[in-house]
Amino acid sequence: MVLIGSRIRLILVIASLWLSLCICSIHGDEGNVYCVKSIYESVKDPLGYLNSTWNFDNHTEGSICSFLGVECWHPNENKVLNIKLSNMGLKGSFPLGLANCTSMTGLDLSNNDFSGPLPSNISHIVGFVTSLVLSSNNFSGSIPVDLVNCKYLNELSLEHNQFSGLIPTELGSLGRIKTFNVANNRLSGPIPSLPANLSADDFANNPGLCGYPLPSCQSSSKSSTTVIVAAAVGGMTISALVIGVGLVFLYRRAAEKRKQLEDPEGNRWTMILKGSKGVKVSMFEKSVSKMKLGDLMRATNDFSKNNIIQSGRTGTMYKAVLEDGTMLMCKRLQDSQHSEKEFVSEMATLGRVKQKNLVPLLGFCMAKNEKILVYKYMVNGALYDYLHPEESTVEQKKVLDWLVRLKIGIGAARGLAWLHHNCNPRIIHRNISSKCILLDGEFEPQISDFGLARLMNPIDTHLSTFVNGEFGDLGYVAPEYTRTLVATPKGDVYSFGIVLLELVTGERPTQVNRATESFKGNLVEWVTMMSDEARLNDVIDNSLLGKGVDNEVFQFLKVACSCVVPGPKERPTMFEVYQLLRAVGERYNFSTENDIMVPTDSGDAQWSELIVARDSTMD
Ligand SMILES: *[C@@H]1O[C@H](CO)[C@@H](O)[C@H](O)[C@H]1NC(C)=O
Ligand SMILES: *[C@@H]1O[C@H](CO)[C@@H](O)[C@H](O)[C@H]1NC(C)=O
Ligand SMILES: *[C@@H]1O[C@H](CO)[C@@H](O)[C@H](O)[C@H]1NC(C)=O
Ligand SMILES: *[C@@H]1O[C@H](CO)[C@@H](O)[C@H](O)[C@H]1NC(C)=O
Ligand SMILES: *[C@@H]1O[C@H](CO)[C@@H](O)[C@H](O)[C@H]1NC(C)=O
Ligand SMILES: *[C@@H]1O[C@H](CO)[C@@H](O)[C@H](O)[C@H]1NC(C)=O
Repeated sequence: MVLIGSRIRLILVIASLWLSLCICSIHGDEGNVYCVKSIYESVKDPLGYLNSTWNFDNHTEGSICSFLGVECWHPNENKVLNIKLSNMGLKGSFPLGLANCTSMTGLDLSNNDFSGPLPSNISHIVGFVTSLVLSSNNFSGSIPVDLVNCKYLNELSLEHNQFSGLIPTELGSLGRIKTFNVANNRLSGPIPSLPANLSADDFANNPGLCGYPLPSCQSSSKSSTTVIVAAAVGGMTISALVIGVGLVFLYRRAAEKRKQLEDPEGNRWTMILKGSKGVKVSMFEKSVSKMKLGDLMRATNDFSKNNIIQSGRTGTMYKAVLEDGTMLMCKRLQDSQHSEKEFVSEMATLGRVKQKNLVPLLGFCMAKNEKILVYKYMVNGALYDYLHPEESTVEQKKVLDWLVRLKIGIGAARGLAWLHHNCNPRIIHRNISSKCILLDGEFEPQISDFGLARLMNPIDTHLSTFVNGEFGDLGYVAPEYTRTLVATPKGDVYSFGIVLLELVTGERPTQVNRATESFKGNLVEWVTMMSDEARLNDVIDNSLLGKGVDNEVFQFLKVACSCVVPGPKERPTMFEVYQLLRAVGERYNFSTENDIMVPTDSGDAQWSELIVARDSTMD
């Protein structure tokens, strides 16, 4: 197998990256120009706001980005991020041409004279927006049920229109909604329960709305605890009957059912916290308001399974919505064996770790052996879920075009390089995977879970050893770990290489959909095999090819391959990985501020010393 073997080859790669940058061509996205043009053609602009800057004769890449109200992902590329056409006296119906702005995350048409109904297929038109502001227009008809499929909505503002009918109950499952305003319409019926900061003002001036936060509707509903208790009792009666009949098989099924009924939310463990609701949550930032454990419990529905963002080796992450609407993430740490003192000191250290590609730890809380960590909320969840969506949500992968994937690769590399080289103390993550790389509203990647692996480890006398079998997520573990049992920065580089391979191939680490049926290996083995057969090009995700960026994609793949070579010494450092990726994305100027510095250390020897030295100061 010949991927990239040595430092010298690495330097060659850098050289070839620089060369390739000069010859790569720039291609635009026709759909976006078509989209903006169709808005221009479908909308009446009596005050002439648009026609002063919306000039379609200029075919330069990035030309539409200078149009009034059009924001692009990057000024040199015709790829629309937001459209904000507020207060321009525009007239017409909801522009269907918006469907061709496939990367748009925000739409604001407020304070205009738009009219007519919203399209019933609205999620096919603005399916990826996080913010949809249509307030103060003359839109009418019912609120389309299909809005529930605009899964990324944070803000839905429909106030001051002529909407009528019911608010679809389905909208209750808009999991990310933060702002929801339908005041001053002609709506009626019950208000669905929404995970947002609801105030009565958001629903005011409608003829027939009822339910929280307005006065309750006529028919009273049973409280949920009564329902659960009744259901549990029912479950037990059924199982008793079944024992009588002696059908063992059915009995088992009933027992399972009963278990589910006894703990339908998977949160029975919170019972022991009932008496500890007054325990204070220690927050690192004064700006965040004071909280008690009880607030976190309320904000997570008592750590209901519906609030789970992801579960992993270090614990389970929950979405929390405070009463004032603030969103947070709470992590219930998996049985940590550390003493309170050790835990508090570890939290104090992690609370100081701040870099824009690391999820900020805001605070923590301890009660009855439970340890809860409080993090800033990441609107777009885990990269893994975007890259490997379930059948039903396969559309969302479309968001991840090349530019977004490159941005994620570079940003995550920056965060991890910072942990390895600039952070004090330096941190080996030990659990890197696409599940711990979370995405904020702008798809800026943020690494979570750093510094937690060692908290899991009761017999960890050396900071860097693994407990047997506890290496990290399947498919991400460096091959040397099974031999050495010692975590190293190069082990992180390997795991990170797998994430890069996922980004560029679109395949899962453990299971390759595109491989032939007889192939049983994992992603690295597949890529290696294809490389040996001189078919490395064929591993690239088809959706990335033929868009004028093939060269960049291929260089990215090369970097990924260099991270997953079997010998740890042959792998680049995270600093080098970051520099290599940055070179691939040079022309996009993703960001230069807040960058990491050249590391002062070099070899691995110094690393273990640093780690051990820190270990002894902890005691
Ligand atoms: C615009 O979108 C429609 C449907 O989504 C698609 O069929 C059409 O090809 C797109 N047009 C361009 C120019 O991308
Ligand atoms: C822009 O629109 C206004 C109003 O319709 C019109 O008076 C003006 O001539 C237009 N300007 C251009 C450059 O088309
Ligand atoms: C075309 O648009 C580009 C990018 O916005 C701008 O730099 C250039 O000056 C424009 N050319 C003309 C002829 O308007
Ligand atoms: C949405 O529905 C309208 C008709 O109501 C249709 O003209 C349009 O093509 C549809 N758009 C998409 C993207 O499906
Ligand atoms: C809004 O639309 C209604 C019909 O739905 C119409 O009667 C009314 O005049 C419109 N109002 C404005 C300000 O355009
Ligand atoms: C929640 O709503 C209240 C009342 O509308 C408001 O004062 C508060 O600022 C909101 N909080 C957030 C985080 O939006």
